[in-house]
Amino acid sequence: MRNKETPMTSDTRSTTPAASSLSPALGMSSQQMIDACLKHTLFSWSATGKVTPIPVARAEGIYLYGPEGQRWIDFNSQLMSVNIGHGHPKVIKAIQDQAATLAYAYPGMVTEIRARLSLRLAEIVPGDLNTFFYTLGGAEANENAIKAARLFTKRHKILVRYRSYHGATHGAITLTGDPRRWPTEPGMPGVVRVMDPRPYNYSFGNSEEEITANNLRYLAEVIEYEGPGNIAAMFIETVTGTNGILPPPKGYLQGLKKLLSSHGILLVCDEVMCGFGRTGKLFAFEHGGIVPDICTMAKGLTSSYLPLGVMAVSDPIAQHFRDSVFSGGLTYNAHPMCLASALAAVNVLLEEGMVENSARMGDVMRTHMEALAKKHRCIMEHRNIGLFGTIELRKNAAGDRLVPYAGSHPVMAKLGAFLRDNGLFTLLQWSTVMCNPPLCIDEAQLAESFAIIDRGLNLVDEVFEDETLPVER
Ligand SMILES: Cc1ncc(COP(=O)(O)O)c(C=O)c1O
Repeated sequence: MRNKETPMTSDTRSTTPAASSLSPALGMSSQQMIDACLKHTLFSWSATGKVTPIPVARAEGIYLYGPEGQRWIDFNSQLMSVNIGHGHPKVIKAIQDQAATLAYAYPGMVTEIRARLSLRLAEIVPGDLNTFFYTLGGAEANENAIKAARLFTKRHKILVRYRSYHGATHGAITLTGDPRRWPTEPGMPGVVRVMDPRPYNYSFGNSEEEITANNLRYLAEVIEYEGPGNIAAMFIETVTGTNGILPPPKGYLQGLKKLLSSHGILLVCDEVMCGFGRTGKLFAFEHGGIVPDICTMAKGLTSSYLPLGVMAVSDPIAQHFRDSVFSGGLTYNAHPMCLASALAAVNVLLEEGMVENSARMGDVMRTHMEALAKKHRCIMEHRNIGLFGTIELRKNAAGDRLVPYAGSHPVMAKLGAFLRDNGLFTLLQWSTVMCNPPLCIDEAQLAESFAIIDRGLNLVDEVFEDETLPVER
């Protein structure tokens, strides 16, 4: 076989060993891992030359560990997804047992784990969301929700909002409102984008009720112009995630469901990020007292121990597909090992009271954020619902965001490096510091985390444009 290896520079030769020379018992150093991965892999949403990845060797609870014993608090549950925390023995055992029994069966077969997980989900997912289609992640769940909505309603248009992310595959990235969509445009036909109830730079009103009423009035007009008989569904992140942790204003979910239902338009709640306890309830739509027609989930479903997504459909939609073909399929649909990790992770989440802990620790998180907001002039706003939180930064007293939409600011890289060097990993998205730890976090660990963020924010205060405004507010 031809050796594809280009000659190594002396630099890489010293740090990147040939795969065959590695001893699994000894493992790689941080530098060896970094060099090999930067050389041979591509990184999501990044230019490979610009990433500075954390080398993780193992993880437990809320902590990540590097090969040389470095320790970081995982203050973002990786991608807001390791809800139960790392390394839970019950999930590991369930995966091992399933691997030893039946690692794979093709989707046309039934398995005990497919039966057990589906019965459990039918029990815990509210309302008449009783039927499930399993995928490998969130984007595929949304792709299949697009199909299901179009096949069920026999309509083609889909309404979506600008402040959203729904996944990176063709249809899901077209549903996405944020700039990750731009390089793939024009995308899938039939998608109509609307403003969120909470727009970026102006308001639909002052009180929550006013914002809701005005946004729904605007939406009713859009529906009229698009022709209600053409619209299959509206997709929303029930609580918006990477676009800023934006809970809906009071009355929005109920008003939206009523408006859409009056036109026979389905409501699809994307709970890929906000589901499974993240917001202090098992599902975020429970805060609004509604049940959507379709709900998509992933991430917290297995707490990311293995990849799995799911589309849950209401009884009428499920009934439709008893007689009509559901035109969707995946080789790894209902993969037994992924289902086993989901059943174990969901049981751990519920049995160990982590949804309640998310609500309780959410209140503690708010107290820390309020204290930081008094202390740092760079803080514009902080928001959290359960352990789904963010601190948004500004650059002046006029209230301009530190980083413009889809832009950057050098101090954010400095802040990221400071947090990391001081033992905390989290995502910094535009002007926000994400605060989404595993749902097993306790008060002392939250205090330790916010003490690190507190020190990091001094760097941002230093670049504040209005010297006259005191640091302490
Ligand atoms: C709300 C939401 N929907 C869908 C997705 C896509 O999920 P996946 O990356 O598993 O395809 C994500 C991922 O971050 C998400 O946050």
